Amino acid sequence: MLQLSLSWLGLGPVSASPWLLLQLVGATWLLSRILSWIYDFYDNCCRLRCFPQPPKRNWFWGHWDLAKSNEEGLQLIEDMGRLFCDVYLWWLGPFYPILRLVHPNFVAPLLQAPATIIPKDMLFYMTEVGDNLGGVGLLLSAGEKWSHQRRLLTPAFHFDILKSYVKIFNRSADIMHAKWQRLASEGHTRLDMFEHISLMTLDSLQKCVFSFDSNCQEKPSEYITAILALSALVIKRCEQIFLHKDFLYYLTPEGRRFRKACRLVHDFTDAVIQERRCTLISQGSQDFLRAKAKAKTLDFIDVLLLAKDEDGKGLSDEDIRAEADTFMFAGHDTTASGLSWVLYNLAKHPEYQERCRKEVQELLRDREPKEIEWDELAQLPFLTMCIKESLRLHPPVPGISRCCAQDVVLPDGRVIPKGNICVISIFGIHHNPSVWPDPEVYNPFRFDPESPQKRSPLAFIPFSAGPRNCIGQTFAMTEMKVVLALTLLRFRVLPDEEEPRRKPEIVLRAEGGLWLRVEPLRGGQQ
Ligand code: HEM
Repeated sequence: MLQLSLSWLGLGPVSASPWLLLQLVGATWLLSRILSWIYDFYDNCCRLRCFPQPPKRNWFWGHWDLAKSNEEGLQLIEDMGRLFCDVYLWWLGPFYPILRLVHPNFVAPLLQAPATIIPKDMLFYMTEVGDNLGGVGLLLSAGEKWSHQRRLLTPAFHFDILKSYVKIFNRSADIMHAKWQRLASEGHTRLDMFEHISLMTLDSLQKCVFSFDSNCQEKPSEYITAILALSALVIKRCEQIFLHKDFLYYLTPEGRRFRKACRLVHDFTDAVIQERRCTLISQGSQDFLRAKAKAKTLDFIDVLLLAKDEDGKGLSDEDIRAEADTFMFAGHDTTASGLSWVLYNLAKHPEYQERCRKEVQELLRDREPKEIEWDELAQLPFLTMCIKESLRLHPPVPGISRCCAQDVVLPDGRVIPKGNICVISIFGIHHNPSVWPDPEVYNPFRFDPESPQKRSPLAFIPFSAGPRNCIGQTFAMTEMKVVLALTLLRFRVLPDEEEPRRKPEIVLRAEGGLWLRVEPLRGGQQ
């Protein structure tokens, strides 16, 4: 038997079995890990002391009670912006610090750094959920995989490709408006903008991504219902921290619904890809794609099938599915939120609404059918100003999150220690009174190109900024301009009696929907 001298502990020699030794080594390792964690935690706390924080409820809950996804939560962010102006610290429980940044100069080192140095914080994005939703598409991927994907996908959003989608946007808006006309003639003028516009954005995305017309605005579509169900289930799951782990979630009825809807969405995308590959083989890929490019009917799937990297390597079917599903998820709610809130803001400001309408009427005078074309988008300057001001006041994505893979030096010399999580509060920046005077006032002239304001380029970041900015930005702006122009041409929008209560989830919504009244206008025929 092995003799172990523990005289340094004041003990005599003891007989130690290998098992005892193993236990001792294990315990020492565990103790050293705990001590090292305590030291790191203490050190981090000391380094974070330079950041101010609002009063805590108590040491255990920290600022949990401030993190509310409702109107009060947003008002609190506005108050904090007034109080702290640049960056402040929140504790979610006793051990989880989060830095919230609300000033453009302070987000610059995070947004402009290479994506590998300041990656996304994966807890915030619930990567495990995202994996199941769409595979690791561009939105959730990281490191070398992300930069490879971004290079391959950038051509899909080139102007030449986007131009051909303008017809689709016009057509999808026409369908929505025909429905509104019908509802109004039946006496239903009070409509939930989110419901109607989300269906419209999904309709146009399905046509742009897959060249598939499910007629979802007119009759229920299984695929679209599944996408809407998944979006709602993800929000619910975000709020239930214990259900973040797949194995627990799938034991619940909601988890099973989630899995079923995922399967349906994946099967749809797989079927389109398979069918397209078969056509490519039977017609010859180059001829097929050349003909489509000439007829300007290339959809995202075609562009993804065409994509090749420097070594001539293309995307696998699984990659294509992940990207296509990501576009559907990242593109529909966000654009619907942007459009719904700009209609709300114009309903509240009839003078701006009328000015936009005049601009559109002028542009489409003597034109039948009423259709906006790509080259004409620049001729709607006031309408564009109104959209931008709405994206400022009601940013569709209220915040994004990053994890510092190394120390980050802020402009005033303070340092965010490596390993900390930062929330870049797009809402907070857009409502910061030191950046935007009277931030709560809807004033489109802030974006008047004739009198440019001296502002940081990061003062207005609805689509984020830097290497990981929104790849669909021009797509979304184009769709919003077309749909808003046609809507104002055909309808007057009026506020509902009840003020909406804002609801910041992954996108900015309104509790119970965003209700407005729509009045058909004479002379705004489709
Ligand atoms: C008004 C509409 C939209 C807004 C406000 C918006 C906003 C954003 C924001 C803030 C990000 C950065 C997310 C982050 O850093 O975590 C982002 C990323 C992204 N968006 Fe959008 N988006 C919109 C529309 C779209 C559309 C229409 C598409 C696709 C068709 C799209 C696809 C994406 C993708 C793929 C990314 C990830 C880019 C990357 O990480 O490289 N978005 N978007």
